[in-house]
Amino acid sequence: MSKLIVGNLKMNLISLLEREGYLKSFKKEIIGKKIKNIQIVLCPPMIHLEAFCKSFGKKVSIGSQNIFWERSGSFTGEISPSMVKNAGAEYTLAGHSERRRYFREDNNEINLKLFSALKVGLKPILCVGENKSAREGGSAVIVSQLENCLEKISGAKIENVIICYEPVWAISSNNPDHFPTADDIMSAKLIIKKFLVKKYGNKNAHKVKIIYGGSVSSLIAKEVCLDPGMDGVLVGRESLVPYEFIKIAEIING
Ligand code: PGA
Repeated sequence: MSKLIVGNLKMNLISLLEREGYLKSFKKEIIGKKIKNIQIVLCPPMIHLEAFCKSFGKKVSIGSQNIFWERSGSFTGEISPSMVKNAGAEYTLAGHSERRRYFREDNNEINLKLFSALKVGLKPILCVGENKSAREGGSAVIVSQLENCLEKISGAKIENVIICYEPVWAISSNNPDHFPTADDIMSAKLIIKKFLVKKYGNKNAHKVKIIYGGSVSSLIAKEVCLDPGMDGVLVGRESLVPYEFIKIAEIING
């Protein structure tokens, strides 16, 4: 199974000039790099989605950072999964902690988003993870997020879902105390795997990629991905620096 490196560009690249500069430097960085065991996914702000889709061949897939669950209609300000798919994207993030926090997205809405993404053939990257206060009792939070967000998602569809373990306390941190250890991440992975095996059976569960997100940089890429046996990473801040992002990809490529 190839590893997945997802770049979440969040609300950055605020002008066309910045976007073009980013794309140019990203393409320059990727040329000739040995990352054949890696699938790269970039999730730009929605306004840049089409330009990103047109910029890359098979080497880089594109995802949206969010979607709505209806196909079309009177939903001012929303973007439907079909629009994202038709623009050429392959993935979408769902349930990112910043959306849960600032836009009060709940598990029920995230479940609807997953459903509608899968229906049009988009692969959702479902983010789950406990916040600081639940750091000790993280397993209950993760299981309840999985239970609710994956409700009625069938065994036939689950292999197209990627699960990202993102402990909220580890996102965009400079403090090494806020980096989970390889053991922390492995325990979370086991909780997720156990849930998937119970709900979908061994065969289907093993097809689901489980990745890690939260302050990933080239300095800790090995500890947070390779050591705990994760299937990839979700990179926020460092994805804005193509040199760093590709360095992470090279480390994970092995
Ligand atoms: P970070 O962001 O790498 O800046 O912590 C990760 C994310 O929120 O997706």
